Amino acid sequence: MDSMAYNPYVLDRRVSDWLYEKRFEALSVLWQAAGQTCLEVVGSEVHFRGLIEFSNHCRRNCLYCGLRAGNHRIERYRLSAEQIFTCVQTAVRLGMGTVVLQSGEDPDLSLEWMSDLVRRIKQETNLSVTLSLGERSEKELEHWRWAGADRYFMRFETSNLHVYNRLHPPLCGRKPFHRLELLKVIKRLGYETGSGIMVGLPGQTHEDLVRDIELLIRLDLDMIGLGPWLLHPGTPLGRNPGRYCTRFERQVSNLEETTYKVMAIVRLLCPMVNMPATTALTTLNRKTGIELSLTRGANVIMPDLTPMEYRKLYEIYPAKTDACQDDGDFKKLFERLEKLKRRPGTGPGRSMRHACNLKTKECSSQN
Ligand code: 5AD
Ligand code: SF4
Repeated sequence: MDSMAYNPYVLDRRVSDWLYEKRFEALSVLWQAAGQTCLEVVGSEVHFRGLIEFSNHCRRNCLYCGLRAGNHRIERYRLSAEQIFTCVQTAVRLGMGTVVLQSGEDPDLSLEWMSDLVRRIKQETNLSVTLSLGERSEKELEHWRWAGADRYFMRFETSNLHVYNRLHPPLCGRKPFHRLELLKVIKRLGYETGSGIMVGLPGQTHEDLVRDIELLIRLDLDMIGLGPWLLHPGTPLGRNPGRYCTRFERQVSNLEETTYKVMAIVRLLCPMVNMPATTALTTLNRKTGIELSLTRGANVIMPDLTPMEYRKLYEIYPAKTDACQDDGDFKKLFERLEKLKRRPGTGPGRSMRHACNLKTKECSSQN
């Protein structure tokens, strides 16, 4: 990573100035601009992605996450293909355009099993399939793409190599920042590609956050997911965050407002991306987190469709929100959107950037 932050301008001010901004009136200008840009560029539709957290097994030991291999206090589960397919049918019944198959970096997830699952979903439904399965081999990524997977999501978490290395013990033989190389592979394979960061990770400075934003721009992504770091008391980071934090005035806060700032800035700098109202953010503000996210840059919601008895076991951080437990909750969610004059999206909600790039490629191959 180069050491000079490019620090782009947003609404005539540097990104770092916005990150330090506290005045209500000034921030209102940022929220308004991000909300308006979202409506003008990606439109007023809010896309629903049905989230299926199908395995909480993980071989990694990220210092912040409750699913880390070293956490022996959680009960591990892996849904069967049949159980997953029942969730997929719920997504179809509720009119969603996409399912997101998410898991820890599960070592027992086989290439064939996953390929069969993706193939079946693509053959039997019109859904788009997003995979979020951690760092997988190039061969696996290739086969799952061939099976029909449309999108792949993997956060790089922080662009600061020192902070990254401290929080992510590597797998044997992996280079640090292997994820950046993998994101390139994922793009080359033709997936709609998503990445993102956590805001307020202990050790993350405001300068880091500017570089994170710069990297998000440079990666030229289809989806960007941004959520605050939430303390999990059963993790090394949660047990002793002070040990990892940087000096008070330099440390980025993991407050809701800081995350909205990053979301709004990213919407203005990468206007075409799909951006979810993340669960971590709506965990911080259950009452209005969805509304604030959708008016400050987000255009995607990811209701959890995992069978109820497993949801609490996917505990990357404690007290994860669970806005939709039954059909009544979905109705309430639709009503909340109506109040914002937003409507649920129809179809797969593809990335505009991806569609534009395909068109350009088609045109250049015709010429
Ligand atoms: N707080 C917030 N987000 C977390 N994640 C994992 N643990 C936490 C936490 N304690 C996020 C990471 C990871 C995704 C699966 O969940 O960004 O990429
Ligand atoms: Fe595993 Fe992902 Fe959690 Fe890391 S963040 S421990 S890879 S589930």
